[in-house]
Amino acid sequence: MGRIPERVIDEILDKADIESVVGHYVSFTKRSGSNLKGLCPFHSEKTPSFNVNTQKNIYKCFGCGKGGNAINFIMNIESLSYPEAVKFLGARYGIDVPEEDSDYREAGIKQHKDRVKKLLADAEAFYIDEFRNSPDASKARSYAEGRQLDKETCEKFGIGYAPAEWGVLKSFLAKKGYTEDEMKDSGLFTVSREGDKIFELFRGRLMFPIKDAFGNTIAFGGRNLGSELPKYINSPDSAVYKKQDNLYAYNIAKKERSKTLIVVEGYMDVIAMHKAGFSNTVAALGTAFTDSQLRLCARTGNCEEVVFFFDSDAAGQNAALRAIQMMIKYLRRMSGMSLIIKIAKVPGGKDPDEFIRQNGSEAFARVVDSAQTVAEYLAQRAYNDNVDDKGKLDTARYLNDICLYGSWSDDEIARDIIASEASKKLDMRLEVIINRMAGLASNDREREAMMEARGLGRMKEGELDHRRKSGSDEMPQGYYDSQVPPPEYAAPNAPQGESVPNTDPLPFNVDEQTRISQDEIADPLQISLMAHALSLNELLCDKSMVDKEDIVRAGDFTCVNLKKMIREYYEIYTVGQGVSIARFIDVMSKYVLNGRPAEDVILEAMTQCDKYQDSRVLRDMYLAILYKVRLEAMTIKEDDLVRQLSVSTGEDKDKIISELKKIDLYKNKIKDKESRI
Ligand code: CTP
Ligand code: MN
Repeated sequence: MGRIPERVIDEILDKADIESVVGHYVSFTKRSGSNLKGLCPFHSEKTPSFNVNTQKNIYKCFGCGKGGNAINFIMNIESLSYPEAVKFLGARYGIDVPEEDSDYREAGIKQHKDRVKKLLADAEAFYIDEFRNSPDASKARSYAEGRQLDKETCEKFGIGYAPAEWGVLKSFLAKKGYTEDEMKDSGLFTVSREGDKIFELFRGRLMFPIKDAFGNTIAFGGRNLGSELPKYINSPDSAVYKKQDNLYAYNIAKKERSKTLIVVEGYMDVIAMHKAGFSNTVAALGTAFTDSQLRLCARTGNCEEVVFFFDSDAAGQNAALRAIQMMIKYLRRMSGMSLIIKIAKVPGGKDPDEFIRQNGSEAFARVVDSAQTVAEYLAQRAYNDNVDDKGKLDTARYLNDICLYGSWSDDEIARDIIASEASKKLDMRLEVIINRMAGLASNDREREAMMEARGLGRMKEGELDHRRKSGSDEMPQGYYDSQVPPPEYAAPNAPQGESVPNTDPLPFNVDEQTRISQDEIADPLQISLMAHALSLNELLCDKSMVDKEDIVRAGDFTCVNLKKMIREYYEIYTVGQGVSIARFIDVMSKYVLNGRPAEDVILEAMTQCDKYQDSRVLRDMYLAILYKVRLEAMTIKEDDLVRQLSVSTGEDKDKIISELKKIDLYKNKIKDKESRI
């Protein structure tokens, strides 16, 4: 299918003014300046909390939290997909909506992707050869042996070794005729801050190739052989790899055509399970489990049920709840998809890998068989989380959790299972609990507040788990990029020239199902930072208002969706004009933040900014938040380095010390600026 060209979207947002679009469905009861008020068409209410801002061309309901532009208003109210809503408005406002012919462009992209895939296949062969034959790999071979990776297993999974020496892979690939551009896009290299040099990302590591459904190598995971951190490094997303859309060993598991698919957390667990006869096992790739991974599971031959093993540590257990919530929601949307989800638990809090080694595969088969349904798991989880060692139950919290978990599902049987045990334990009528579940289900705000209180709303500090900290979530641009703004830096994502024309057509098909829900957990402070930056809009890149180094950039955000959103913002930013907020809502509508549509969350945060009449006050608020976010990032980085310091020696140690000094200088600089606001 073609795409709708950008200029058409612009024309629609220009002509389909929000007042007339919404006016078809809502009668406004109050008008003050550019603000209109009426009863919300998306939830039932008696006092109007639905607002339209005719100047910004947006709407926002303070009751149910929904907000957006004309296009997503139509999507919501008419239950249409993005392109359908565009066509709907096009027809009503007399705008022709053609689809762009992008065959030519796509052909070029495909050619490049094929080259990158070929490069990755060659790299895999290189790593395997190193692993088998290089004298340098002897440590890797004995490590593999120690973990019972026999010859056959290594062959099946393409286990390799990335040499410790710099430049070896690069020159191997160069000899094969690959360009530096192709190498950059392979995810196997990091690029220097100046952008002119590339370095191997994986060195001295045991390599696990990650393949797509057809068996093409698209990425790698690399494990350390000793104790150097991080334990695993993973390829960042690239032209050929989106980790949220892939599962480790999926290409093998899908061939089983088994009724059950098993999902575990680690590479080594998958391998141990395949060895033990469970070839129907895959792993989520060091991320929270995503809806698109669930879709992949459902697509394997005869799959009827998916059994999950989550790590038993706190991060793993929180990941379990988040994944369950996502899956219930997803399966509800996909009515007709009858997939049974089960949760299994390895006794004694072990990895499947360890358990199998100690107890054998038959014992493990029993563990798989004892998996609980989601409803059973949630009922038990609510109890276990709120009972202390002496068996004393915190009844208030227990009831809260029960009602929260029950509110995720609209299935009567599931609600009944979740509520019935609690009803007995609390000596409370079943329908009281069920009613509360239903009440919560229709109240997004209250539910979110409970999620927050339950520590599920967002990642808590320290819970920024290893999967994130591995630092390979995105292409590390030199040392600082992912978290810490360097002492003297140019904001590379900020607009450079006078105007930044945007030529990329909008991504097609933006609707609930294609929202980018991965890495959606956003800190409220960072959401506020985004909201303030958007409110400053054309003033954000105005030299007389904000110093260049104080322009917020992708690296300031730890939440990947916020990173992506700010990049897209700058892509359509014009110096002097900023970006139309109605237009940017379209961009945001691809993303999810903390389980909610990003535009709802951001518009809500932006209303805080509306109260500043004076733009200098707004600017000062913006700076105060920015500095706070940057100082927090520094502190996290510092803690990290201090931890590394204790296990490093010699040159490494000196390096860390000098980094720490730099950070200290930078912190002081920010604090100094902070005090001058
Ligand atoms: N992981 C990661 N980055 C890290 C640590 C873990 O990406 N720094 C991912 C990997 O996919 C890993 C999974 O999370 O396989 C589970 O992590 P963990 O339980 O720590 O590792 P194991 O798989 O148990 O690895 P091993 O048995 O080799 O220690
Ligand atoms: Mn393990």
